[in-house]
Amino acid sequence: MKFSHLLPTILVASAVVLALPTETTESAEIAQRADSSLVGYLGIFFLGNAPNIYFYLSNGNNALSFKGLNKGQPILKPSSGTGGVRDPSIISGAGAEAGKKWYIIGTNLDIGKTTWDKAQRKGSLSIYIWESTDMINWGAERLVKVENDNAGMVWAPDAIWDPSKGMYLVHWASKFYSASDSGHTGNPGPDQIRYAYTSDFKTFTTPQTFISASSSIIDLSILQLGDNSFARFIKNESATNVYMERSDTGLFGTWTRPGGATSYIRSGVEGPYAYMDNQVQGRVILLLDYFGGDGYRPFTSTNLNANSWTDADRSSFPSNLRHGSVVGIPQDKYNALNTKWG
Ligand SMILES: *[C@@H]1O[C@H](CO)[C@@H](O)[C@H](O)[C@H]1NC(C)=O
Repeated sequence: MKFSHLLPTILVASAVVLALPTETTESAEIAQRADSSLVGYLGIFFLGNAPNIYFYLSNGNNALSFKGLNKGQPILKPSSGTGGVRDPSIISGAGAEAGKKWYIIGTNLDIGKTTWDKAQRKGSLSIYIWESTDMINWGAERLVKVENDNAGMVWAPDAIWDPSKGMYLVHWASKFYSASDSGHTGNPGPDQIRYAYTSDFKTFTTPQTFISASSSIIDLSILQLGDNSFARFIKNESATNVYMERSDTGLFGTWTRPGGATSYIRSGVEGPYAYMDNQVQGRVILLLDYFGGDGYRPFTSTNLNANSWTDADRSSFPSNLRHGSVVGIPQDKYNALNTKWG
């Protein structure tokens, strides 16, 4: 499916909202613009052999150049649950919490203490949550159960502010066993993407299915492009590739795959995470985790409608970073992070 039929609406919408001339269709398709209040990026990741959270600060305002904070030592180590955290995601507060609150959520799994099979039968049904009012002081984590008992695990939680609800939509991947199989010894269904809403990352609504397919899908991340426009990135677990879908009708609108129904971005990858460039209008950076190799590699696109991705310069991008997330940060946060751990 191509999106050309939607372009006139998007052009009008972005021209009205932003009151900017729409010089090219490439820049006009993305309503979220370069932001001069953002002077850098904070990335948080786990490393292959270490299920803890490591912070990386951009070198200046370069979306592809990062240095490890805290001399490369972890900054957050859970003491509850399995004691290991994977797939950390940092979420900037929104709505009444904009600029006042940040959350980090992650998978409760130390694979060194279990097996991949056990981890998907009787894995954790909870997510780790840290919160901060300044991006520096994170306190101790809490572990909150979000999924039903017939699920085998809760993997790769991430969240996005849903402007239509005024709440955070939290999502993750689970697979399910039949109600009669309380030991989860039989064959589960395929991994699906599940979700719940929260206002405070303390209480969550009853979990529901967000995306399901006939074979397993995991590792959803969503990038907001405009008021009602989103791109989502998902790993096809059986094909081991990452694909992108797009909606211009909200998070529960119609999602289609630019480039065609079987298109994908790269194979042999997982843990996709996309973020906007702070300075280059309309440029999206996508991290894909080469989990059998050197971890995250960056890709860029200025045309999501064509689903066309270019291998980015990796000369200043650290290797062996695994599934995590990146947010743009203002000067006071850049300075504070650098002073504390730089
Ligand atoms: C995932 O890949 C398999 C091929 O291995 C394919 O049959 C299936 O349709 C794909 N799923 C999605 C959601 O694209």
